Amino acid sequence: MLSYQHAYHAGGPADLHKHAAMCVLMERLAEKPKPFAVVDLYAGHGVYGLGTDEAQKTKEFEGGIGRLWPKRGEVAPQAISALFGAIAPLNPEGRLIYYPGSPAIARAFMREGDLLILNELHPAAHTDLKRWARQDDRITLHKRDGLEALVGLMPPPVRRGLVVIDPSYEIKTEYAALPDALRKAQRKWKEGTYLVWYPILADGRHSELVKGLETGLAGGVIACELHFDASKFAKDAPGLRGTGVIVVNPPWKFDVAMGAAGEWLAKTLTTTGRHTLRWLQRDANVA
Ligand SMILES: C[S@@+](CC[C@H](N)C(=O)[O-])C[C@H]1O[C@@H](n2cnc3c(N)ncnc32)[C@H](O)[C@@H]1O
Repeated sequence: MLSYQHAYHAGGPADLHKHAAMCVLMERLAEKPKPFAVVDLYAGHGVYGLGTDEAQKTKEFEGGIGRLWPKRGEVAPQAISALFGAIAPLNPEGRLIYYPGSPAIARAFMREGDLLILNELHPAAHTDLKRWARQDDRITLHKRDGLEALVGLMPPPVRRGLVVIDPSYEIKTEYAALPDALRKAQRKWKEGTYLVWYPILADGRHSELVKGLETGLAGGVIACELHFDASKFAKDAPGLRGTGVIVVNPPWKFDVAMGAAGEWLAKTLTTTGRHTLRWLQRDANVA
């Protein structure tokens, strides 16, 4: 099918929430000198122009990074400052023209010896990504089904790192299939941290995914949700009511850093929205 195009949604509130979580995790990986690997299974294009027809058609970025960017000089939680730090080099003159996709967020934290393993199935996005990644020998690129690659690419050659799982959920069975694939991946790479993005939908379809991640995984499992302004939704209207990120095997005190970033996003992007954190499973090894 592959009709989803992220260019319509880049820089919107869902991207900010997911990328803030990534920034918390990337900062923690880059704290230690030992190399890390990031496996991004639904990578998209790398970088997005906010002046393109797609971005201008929906203008989703205006309610997202468009609202945040003027605040980049203000005091903000560490993950938000780190996110600004990843966006700024793409916009050296200060005017917001480009927004980074998850591969560019990851690359902003990488050092010599770290690895970025990208996967993207859509032919046009894959071609764009290949162009973006050229001349960086730390990056390898695959063109496989994301859930198949989630198991097939584990473990990465460097055994410290993060897997980013950000499907478009065009195929509705992905909600049910993802937890099982993640359990299989974890059997092959238990030390890794896994980030799963999901939409919070009016029809509650995402709850199948959340429920599926409540059992059978090793380490802690935490769900972070940014709920948009309820007053803006017509009753029973379909669509996105919020954005969620589940992190499996998060680093120590991830909840504290993500809680601060999420609350700041809720305050900055919404009027009555809120951010919630819920442990689906506590890490048995952490008191
Ligand atoms: C939500 S977008 C990714 C956005 C990106 N992770 C970011 O944060 O900038 C989902 C991507 O998955 C790709 N995709 C859709 N189905 C896929 C599949 N079965 N396997 C791999 N990629 C797929 C789409 O082409 C799209 O680029």
